[in-house]
Amino acid sequence: MSIKSHPRTFPPRFAWGVATAAPQIEGAAFADGKGESIWDRYCRVPGKVHNGDTLDVACDHYRRYRSDVALMARLGVKHYRLSLAWPRLLPQGRGPVNQKGVDFYHRLLDTLHAHGITPWVTLFHWDLPQALEDEGGWRRRTTADAFAGYADLAVRSFRSQVKNWITLNETNCFTRLAYGGGDKAPGANDGEAVVNQAYHHAMLAHGHGVRAVREHGGRGARVGITDNPIVSVPVTETAADIAAARDLFRFESDRVLGAICNGRYSERYLRAAGADAPRFDPRDFQLIGQPTDFLGLNIYTGQFVRAGRRGRPEILPFPAGYPRADSPWLYLLPQAMYWGARFAAELRGVRSLYITENGAGYDDAPPAGGEVLDLHRREYVRQCLGELHRAIGDGAPVDGYFLWSLMDNFEWQDGYARRFGIVYNDFATQKRTPKLSARWYAEVMKTNRLL
Ligand code: NOJ
Repeated sequence: MSIKSHPRTFPPRFAWGVATAAPQIEGAAFADGKGESIWDRYCRVPGKVHNGDTLDVACDHYRRYRSDVALMARLGVKHYRLSLAWPRLLPQGRGPVNQKGVDFYHRLLDTLHAHGITPWVTLFHWDLPQALEDEGGWRRRTTADAFAGYADLAVRSFRSQVKNWITLNETNCFTRLAYGGGDKAPGANDGEAVVNQAYHHAMLAHGHGVRAVREHGGRGARVGITDNPIVSVPVTETAADIAAARDLFRFESDRVLGAICNGRYSERYLRAAGADAPRFDPRDFQLIGQPTDFLGLNIYTGQFVRAGRRGRPEILPFPAGYPRADSPWLYLLPQAMYWGARFAAELRGVRSLYITENGAGYDDAPPAGGEVLDLHRREYVRQCLGELHRAIGDGAPVDGYFLWSLMDNFEWQDGYARRFGIVYNDFATQKRTPKLSARWYAEVMKTNRLL
């Protein structure tokens, strides 16, 4: 009897990669002229970040980037999503440029190219210059104006080294969770009207990012946003539950994806927001609604939905004991990958999607005998990739996938205890040790197959 294998092959030229973000790995938070970010400030507020951890040193990537890039190359990484630190380039958010910051990213990008790794650069991954927060941060339209100048500077400075640009990372996390009582810096609780206004200013910033890439990016430059819409997963794949999940996905992604892809806010969003709706000039949408080249989705989890009364979407709360990663929000729900890709493509008319993040946060124990057997992470990522493969088979235009994260790093309010890396980092010695998941993922990237 022969055992038949069913290789799940991904499309040709599928972009496999890993992702990180500047504040989470660089360290050197106050070195070489870098300005203070809102996270540098927030992590010093007692009780906000687990264990009082700070971003001061992080993975010391600012100094160790050469060996980190060499490690990536050894793993066979061909695409790397990273972010630029706004306060490293413009310490006050606007005004004088910090040349040492510009030089650092030139060196880093050169090193990536020397190893045959394509950079995908996020302009904003939450590290707002504190100087801008002091003026009101994303509550104020002037922050979007400052972002316009920052985007111009970044794209002009790195246009010969970067062709793939991502404007913003996860709008929800630096608006709602930052100004609406969540656990992200600056940790304000200003109510729904401020949150909606912050979203609008973020959308303007996105528009300026697109404009900057079109104006200064040069030949072959491409741009998109990375968003993390809540993914509604039909609890059974029946027509009624699928319709309910689709409807809720559309509603919950109206504020960001709707604004960008349709070039306006939906009536439904504005009606639901009522008196808390954002104030805007209709002309803002000339900027916000400019065509983009791809959409980045960060998908880790989702919510189960079914058709309730009259087919209305009904969210099913997770019962106690439903499996989760060690990150308490990370309910293990791999089908979110399938439905997230399908709904985003169908509802928003997106022709090119990238999964710009997916992974799992566990409190891995240090390597024993040189190994970290992170079978739980491997298993979850494998299931997610299986669902992604299914989505592609059903027509979702997915062109790439980035695993979060290359190495354990600063997991925001969870500090350094919560690990997402496929490479273990010992924060006392900065020794990097690839985990089992890294060895496995290296094979997936090499063979373009789910193994
Ligand atoms: C999304 C964020 O973009 C990233 O910064 C974070 O570390 C991961 N999710 C895991 O929570």
